[in-house]
Amino acid sequence: MSMISPWKHDFPIFSINAHPNLCYLDSAATCLTPKHVAEAIYYYQCFSHANSHKSLYQLSANATELVEQAREKVANFVGAGIDESVVFTASSTESINLVAASFVQARLSKQSNIIIGAAEHHANLLPWQALCQRVGANLRVAPITSQGQIDVTALAKLIDSDTVLIAVSHVSNVLGVVNPIKSISAIAHQKNVPVLVDGAQGVRYGPVNFTDLDCDFYLFSAHKIYGATGCGVLVGKNKYLEQMSPFQLGAGIVKSVNYAETIYTNGALKFEPGSHNVAGIVGLVEAIDYLTDITWSEVTAHIDALSAYLFDQLHDLPYIKPLIFLPSNDFVSNNVSDVVQCPSIFSFTMSDVACHDIASFLDDSEIAVRAGRQCAEPLHQKLNIPASLRVSLGLYNGFEDIDRFIAGIKSLQQLFREPQIFDGDSEHNIN
Ligand SMILES: Cc1ncc(COP(=O)(O)O)c(C=O)c1O
Repeated sequence: MSMISPWKHDFPIFSINAHPNLCYLDSAATCLTPKHVAEAIYYYQCFSHANSHKSLYQLSANATELVEQAREKVANFVGAGIDESVVFTASSTESINLVAASFVQARLSKQSNIIIGAAEHHANLLPWQALCQRVGANLRVAPITSQGQIDVTALAKLIDSDTVLIAVSHVSNVLGVVNPIKSISAIAHQKNVPVLVDGAQGVRYGPVNFTDLDCDFYLFSAHKIYGATGCGVLVGKNKYLEQMSPFQLGAGIVKSVNYAETIYTNGALKFEPGSHNVAGIVGLVEAIDYLTDITWSEVTAHIDALSAYLFDQLHDLPYIKPLIFLPSNDFVSNNVSDVVQCPSIFSFTMSDVACHDIASFLDDSEIAVRAGRQCAEPLHQKLNIPASLRVSLGLYNGFEDIDRFIAGIKSLQQLFREPQIFDGDSEHNIN
């Protein structure tokens, strides 16, 4: 197998004039941009930009068509059917806040509760915490198993007739673990509780199938799948979207307005006031085309091979302490909804070296990794660690990147004291 990714040359950031030595291992934070996406945005913005959904002249009508075609493309991409709609937002964060403000808030009372998982990103924690605090409702946290997945049995016990929503991540941004969304949806729906899935990390290792996951809301950001920042998606069941009030108010979401009353439009547009981020949406469409042209099987085969290689190398380093212990063959990513481990995200600590020191040491060699609490502070508290280090992979990574990262870790270790071998207990205690 080639040391260099066959798609690396698609990413201008690695060009000789930019960062030819960059070893980018932070795709869970944001994916780098392929030239296809950058060029699509550039061409749209330079040669056919107009405001969508506003005017009849051709340029504006074209922009409207781009947005509406994009809606269909995204629906196909995530397997949404005729009973679901795609809403364009600014980000995963905004999508979650939209559901919090427009759906959950009106249903929440002092007696109610919202259930989240124990490894949620702050984006899928803070809006629910704030809502619950505002009305005195209860925020319940479903524990995770020793493998890092949401414990479905424990979650089932938290659901009662006052549960208003279950909000969980598809894939943990820290643990890289795929949650059993189908099982969670099944038990939630037995009790008529809607399920929101934060797909910010799950969408990258698709195909995602909304209908098959049977959740009620699924959301993600374009920049997590090689699109641009500032563009997000919320897919929701129409039966809920129709009941929801607008999230933000402004132009383009009304049937009629007078000083006494406003009648809002139906459908996705009700949640998209103001001017659409057409350039971002064009970039998202191009990113979807880019991925689907490569094909999911190629994408996942590449990431699987890199992950296996990474896991094997890390396995041999006794001073690496994974947050969740995963045998190197315990992952397959061709159907993200059925597997435990989503290859590509691996978090760990290193004995005797602070995570931030590791990250800045690696940065000296242009190796970019994430260090810190990874926007999941309660999880780190639970694991009793101040921070962790995350390596996450993307299409542009090759075996050479893993080799550079491992070489960096080894030389850092040499700078500190002799390796201290863990005696069998290589896992953090998460229970
Ligand atoms: C699981 C998860 N949810 C939500 C988010 C927030 O995404 P955004 O910053 O695009 O809104 C992230 C970002 O890393 C994430 O990993």
